[in-house]
Amino acid sequence: MVDDRQILETERLILCKLTPDDLEALFRLYRDPIIREHFPEGVLSREETQAELDWIIKVYYGDYGYGLWATIYKPTGAFIGRCGLLPWVIDERQEVEVAYLLDQAYWGQGLASEAAQAIVAYGFDQLHFDRLICLPIPENAASIRVAEKMGMQLERELVLDGSPALLYSIAKS
Ligand SMILES: CC(C)(COP(=O)(O)OP(=O)(O)OC[C@H]1O[C@@H](n2cnc3c(N)ncnc32)[C@H](O)[C@@H]1OP(=O)(O)O)[C@@H](O)C(=O)NCCC(=O)NCCS
Repeated sequence: MVDDRQILETERLILCKLTPDDLEALFRLYRDPIIREHFPEGVLSREETQAELDWIIKVYYGDYGYGLWATIYKPTGAFIGRCGLLPWVIDERQEVEVAYLLDQAYWGQGLASEAAQAIVAYGFDQLHFDRLICLPIPENAASIRVAEKMGMQLERELVLDGSPALLYSIAKS
């Protein structure tokens, strides 16, 4: 049952808060070198995944009231990824990133775009942000396309934690 943890529902997906029990499902994704190809830090160990999961639950949910959420495929109830919102400070400006990562088996079906578009609506309508961003690296064509399909536009190139990235953004209309 995810009802009390549920954040969002789309046609094919439910996004709900992660719990400590999601460690193995998350690690199965974070250990995959193809899924992690465009992350500068690469694959994560179980311990690194545990640390990120702890941070999401304690700091993001606890202090910010949002974060990365378990992404559940409604037809089967399978845990197929984590998508959500992440806080950043970039050039002294508080930003909120729309983030998405799915199991390879589910790529190419429009699922990330479905999640991302619902997250944008949630960020603007429920959390009252006036602007949202994405931070793909230049080689991540699929991620850039998902950002474009959210209505985001390329604002500029930047260096993030020592790695090149693109800053896409959308303002609340
Ligand atoms: C990025 C990611 C979430 C996309 O998931 P997805 O469910 O396959 O995305 P969608 O099906 O909604 O849309 C992908 C779009 O990118 C396009 N695309 C996919 N691979 C592409 C490529 N190599 N070059 C150009 N476009 C590509 C698709 O054609 C589609 O666009 P379209 O609808 O106009 O045809 C998925 O690839 C992923 O989990 N990657 C690993 C994690 C990651 O990199 N996350 C982003 C970090 S910034």
